Amino acid sequence: MLLRATLLLLLGISTALGQLSGRVGPTTSSSAKRNTICNVLDYGGSVGSNDIGPAIQSAFNSCVLKNTGSTLYIPAGNYNMATWVTLEGASQWALQLDGVITRTATTGGHMIIVENANDFEMYSSNSAGAIQGNGYQCRNAGPRLLRIITSTNFSLHDLIFVDSPEFHVILDNSQNGEVYNLAIRGAAIGGSDGIDMSGSNIWVHDVEVTNGDECVTIKNPSSNHLIEQIWCNQSGGSAIGSLGTGTTIENILYRYVYCVGGNQMFMIKSNGGDGYVSNVVFDNFLGLGTAYALDVDGYWSSISTIAGNGVQLTNITFSNWDGYIVDGERRSAYRILCADNAPCTEMNIENVQLWASNNVGTYACRSAYGTGTCLESGSGGGYSQVTESYTEPAAYSSPPTMSGNLASGFATNSPIPIP
Ligand SMILES: *[C@@H]1O[C@H](CO)[C@@H](O)[C@H](O)[C@H]1NC(C)=O
Ligand SMILES: *[C@@H]1O[C@H](CO)[C@@H](O)[C@H](O)[C@H]1NC(C)=O
Ligand SMILES: *[C@@H]1O[C@H](CO)[C@@H](O)[C@H](O)[C@H]1NC(C)=O
Repeated sequence: MLLRATLLLLLGISTALGQLSGRVGPTTSSSAKRNTICNVLDYGGSVGSNDIGPAIQSAFNSCVLKNTGSTLYIPAGNYNMATWVTLEGASQWALQLDGVITRTATTGGHMIIVENANDFEMYSSNSAGAIQGNGYQCRNAGPRLLRIITSTNFSLHDLIFVDSPEFHVILDNSQNGEVYNLAIRGAAIGGSDGIDMSGSNIWVHDVEVTNGDECVTIKNPSSNHLIEQIWCNQSGGSAIGSLGTGTTIENILYRYVYCVGGNQMFMIKSNGGDGYVSNVVFDNFLGLGTAYALDVDGYWSSISTIAGNGVQLTNITFSNWDGYIVDGERRSAYRILCADNAPCTEMNIENVQLWASNNVGTYACRSAYGTGTCLESGSGGGYSQVTESYTEPAAYSSPPTMSGNLASGFATNSPIPIP
């Protein structure tokens, strides 16, 4: 009886958490990180200085690392930054960015790396903290803005990341994280990824991304992520991938994703490789005028073929989607193209109502099994691509538009303002 009660309790908790496997975020409160304030202005920094990097590193080395329960504080004001920092190995600490840091050097790597942090919170207390990458000055030839590596029990919130020369925010093999209230504004160009994440048990919510590449994208390895309330406001769109060999991705839930323009509503992308993606749900997606919509591509031609039979996709549900692509003549609103040597199984398409603004609808399926569209039922071997036409779904209705849509992406060759 006790075991049964415990199981029910566990099941109840896991339902409430969606796909998460446990609690997320720092283990102690913000105030428990304010025993010592390590202000960059006390470590050689000054507002308006040419390079705040050394002061951040010094405040970290001389103050944060020596005082458990400390906050590295960057007060309101403008700072340039030319020296990148690695903040490695602290516990029970915070990085409070209330000012605006502007990139000036073109050194590669990352402006800020946080590594092996535990019980960590990075935030802005005035919601004005920002990193301005001015990527238009060194497009795809400069640093990324922030990388959080093998950290645990952390949060990242109320910050703004603008125009990175390359990717904006990377969560690299981290766990038990909560990421929320972020605005990311990049240019409409490839290599401008919003959030790329790997690891386990991370909740990303209330994030807005404008760019020409990944919106909020899952990389290998990943498990138990919950991603919700995402606004891809003229963004390349979210994805799982691209995937290669040894893929292990499972227990992922994306829901309440709103896409305006850009490339896709969601894509799972690979070309060869091996391993698996399983137990994934994509629920409540709304798309207005994307190029692709529901796009599973096991022969993604933007990368060269990787050795392996293909990544095995199993038990993947797309439910409650509404939206239209711009050109049904050129592209299928539904594409479920799986590897011939690793056919997809248990692909479920439920109440997905997709259409095209030029009133042409096609489904495309290849080596894919499950229910809905042109999927074959049951399981079996590979089969070549089948493309079927369909007429406007009876349940399709023009999706509602929210205010705050951006009509087109940001130019790649001029400054992007901090919102
Ligand atoms: C993270 O928090 C959990 C409690 O939720 C704890 O069990 C774990 O040890 C923490 N991680 C580290 C690296 O201390
Ligand atoms: C399929 O995935 C869903 C969502 O993760 C999960 O609840 C369900 O148990 C999985 N089904 C199987 C047969 O594993
Ligand atoms: C979409 O982007 C535009 C341009 O940056 C911005 O004004 C608008 O607030 C954004 N919408 C949301 C919901 O953030």
